[in-house]
Amino acid sequence: MKLWKGRFQKEADPKTNDFNSSISIDSRMYKEDIEGSIAHATMLGAAGIIDKGESEKICAELEKIEKDIETGALHIDPDAEDIHTFIEGELTARIGDAGKRLHTARSRNDQVALDVRLTLRKECAGLMEQLKELINVLCDQAEEYADTVMPGYTHLQRAQPITFGHHLMAYAEMFLRDIGRMQDALKRMDVCPLGSGALAGTTYPLDRDLTAKLLGFSGVSRNSLDGVADRDFCAEIAAAISLAMVHLSRFSEEIILWCSWEFKFIELDDAFSTGSSIMPQKKNPDITELIRGKSGRVFGDLMALLTMMKGLPLAYNKDMQEDKEAVFDAVDTLRLCLTPFIPMLKTMRVLKENMRAAAAKGFINATDCADYLVASKGLPFRDAYKITGELVALCIERGLTLETLPIDEYKKVCNAFDEGVYEAINLEKCVRDRKVKGAPCPENVRAAAKEVRTIVNGL
Ligand code: ARG
Repeated sequence: MKLWKGRFQKEADPKTNDFNSSISIDSRMYKEDIEGSIAHATMLGAAGIIDKGESEKICAELEKIEKDIETGALHIDPDAEDIHTFIEGELTARIGDAGKRLHTARSRNDQVALDVRLTLRKECAGLMEQLKELINVLCDQAEEYADTVMPGYTHLQRAQPITFGHHLMAYAEMFLRDIGRMQDALKRMDVCPLGSGALAGTTYPLDRDLTAKLLGFSGVSRNSLDGVADRDFCAEIAAAISLAMVHLSRFSEEIILWCSWEFKFIELDDAFSTGSSIMPQKKNPDITELIRGKSGRVFGDLMALLTMMKGLPLAYNKDMQEDKEAVFDAVDTLRLCLTPFIPMLKTMRVLKENMRAAAAKGFINATDCADYLVASKGLPFRDAYKITGELVALCIERGLTLETLPIDEYKKVCNAFDEGVYEAINLEKCVRDRKVKGAPCPENVRAAAKEVRTIVNGL
């Protein structure tokens, strides 16, 4: 039975009804819808807008409905227009007139604005827990590999020596910011829209603060039009999730590279890899490829939300029903991606020798060679840079490295060199000496892991 039966003479066309319905998406909010209705009914009773006894009856029956949905005793009707309509209809079927009073001073417009907030609040708490776990894993591994020398890259060309621990901590920083962005979005979202009504509030003497308090909000929305028309919070959360997906995708890309025979810096556990139907030798990093791929759909969700909102006159428009599919998809995708990613990372085998061997090629200590001329021999950096460049060219020509180039050859290019250069370009020393704040020396990495862990676990 349609809510608007009074005004209409005909039933909805079934296919149009399907098109108009959002129940397939919003039925996942049944708990939140019930939670919101219980708070609203409690407030209506407390404010004397409905009879206290009826308010209690409503709340008790709503709790039963929730239990019945959970146990499967009550099936959500796929023909209902949305979850709000379904639950109110069910309530009325069960308790009659009292059920019909629940929607006093409420519209589905403020109801849905509430339900989505409650749902996202819960979903984001779950996502932040997963991100915390991920950061903890990264901190553990950063400590374990604080001394593991690997080449650092720019332009995917070997550049300067770093450690694997330092590299991992870079991702820990990104995911920490992702949590921060989510928290920021949740803070702005922390107002209860109930009482905004359809758009113009209500003439009933609602105690909006009480409803907000019952639902755990810090306050109430200040403007009834904005209360029902705002979906910034969906876009903000989708944006925060999009950035988390960017970070996961970049990390995935690196893992894909590191697993290749070209790099062979890590090996993923069999439990988190896949094979080929034809090539017996294959071990593929499918999880990471899927994550890289799924980032695109999340960016699509964000774009859908922004585009959906940009032309809407105030206040509610049915376009906004599309918000849930997009933002829930973003939430679900990040959750689904993190679920295998975290244990995959935890169980990967780090092939330190291969990292060290790669670091030994590609002249990643060339800057250190130039720095040696500056620090020990007093040359201006630009001259030292040019001299080192000539040495690198010489090494390439002879198939040597800076470590294996004889001292006479050094001296031929610049007389200032002495045997001390070999110590100066030792990769372990090059990493150890990068002590400036934020640089990759092992003590810094260990300290950063400790600090980040403390921050994360205090969140
Ligand atoms: N299913 C609707 C949505 O998700 C609920 C609000 C409907 N309001 C209305 N006036 N049609 O947006």
